[in-house]
Amino acid sequence: MTLDIDRLLTTSDPTAVDDLYAEACRRRDAVYGRRVFMRGLIEVTSHCRNNCLYCGLRRDLQCTRYRLSKDQILDCCRTGHALGFRTFVMQGGEDAWFTDERVCDIVRAVKQEFPDCAITLSLGERGYDSFARLREAGADRYLLRHETADAAHYALLHPAEMHFEHRMQCLRDLRALGYQVGCGFMVGSPGQTLDTLKKDLAFIDEFRPEMVGIGPFIPASGTPFQHHPAGSVELTLRLLAIIRVMHPHVLLPATSALGTMHPQGRERAIAAGANVVMPNLSPQDTRALYSIYNNKLATGSEAAESAADIRARMKAIGMDVPSERGDFVGTSER
Ligand code: 5AD
Ligand code: SF4
Repeated sequence: MTLDIDRLLTTSDPTAVDDLYAEACRRRDAVYGRRVFMRGLIEVTSHCRNNCLYCGLRRDLQCTRYRLSKDQILDCCRTGHALGFRTFVMQGGEDAWFTDERVCDIVRAVKQEFPDCAITLSLGERGYDSFARLREAGADRYLLRHETADAAHYALLHPAEMHFEHRMQCLRDLRALGYQVGCGFMVGSPGQTLDTLKKDLAFIDEFRPEMVGIGPFIPASGTPFQHHPAGSVELTLRLLAIIRVMHPHVLLPATSALGTMHPQGRERAIAAGANVVMPNLSPQDTRALYSIYNNKLATGSEAAESAADIRARMKAIGMDVPSERGDFVGTSER
């Protein structure tokens, strides 16, 4: 299938869209089979020094902030391991408390107790030496969404002190240090156009990340974009499928933002070529506080509950959910 991206993003022909989804699933299945990998998400801190205009955790917002201790994080991993998780994703805002020393100590402790598990970090922008230390301590993967591959669009979504070039440099540094790297973007963010989306796809095609996280933009109360409409579920699904067809080996999550926007959002993402789900392992009392956007899923449930729910949903659509790390396979080459 040669990709006519303009047409696929704009067509109202349902057959063209169904064909795209079918091709995406064929390519995924050829690499990974009918398997969906689970990642246990641990939201380690809601403190953030940044002020991204779209985010419900931005610095200017007055909200209750928390951070998890090393012991709390280890407890989340214990719960997750017993539930069959073999990847832990430690995600948080850019919080100065999480110094290299502290993160390295936590990473080493998790690796020591769970040598069969992969660790993914998602702690925002850091310097090369910092990324190097975390990698040395045992981190396997790093998620850092590029947010948009268009510099002017980036400037519209972020305050002047944040720089598109630095974000891209971080991604290149992570790659150079041997991480499995994830980039990604929101669909329907303010200022996004067909042209900026095509740049996102061109960037992914060139950078060949091991993971790509995309989900619809969802307005967050109290932010400058609180009244901006949410992104489209349909467009998000098409983009997932296009990315899968372009890059069959990529690990592609069915994000919670999609699940938040549509009751069957994650199932539909799998049917469009996604192959990763990320149930929340954060302690029940901190979940509602990690409010990146409004009405985030499963803010009141327990780890075991959200894991069982997602597992059941995946099985119901004929996918296996193995207890494996689910590393990127094959090559980043085209
Ligand atoms: N809607 C959807 N996604 C968001 N993110 C931040 N704010 C929002 C929002 N309002 C995404 C960003 C960020 C990731 C952690 O969450 O892409 O990289
Ligand atoms: Fe902080 Fe990330 Fe939110 Fe930006 S998107 S304000 S870096 S938590």
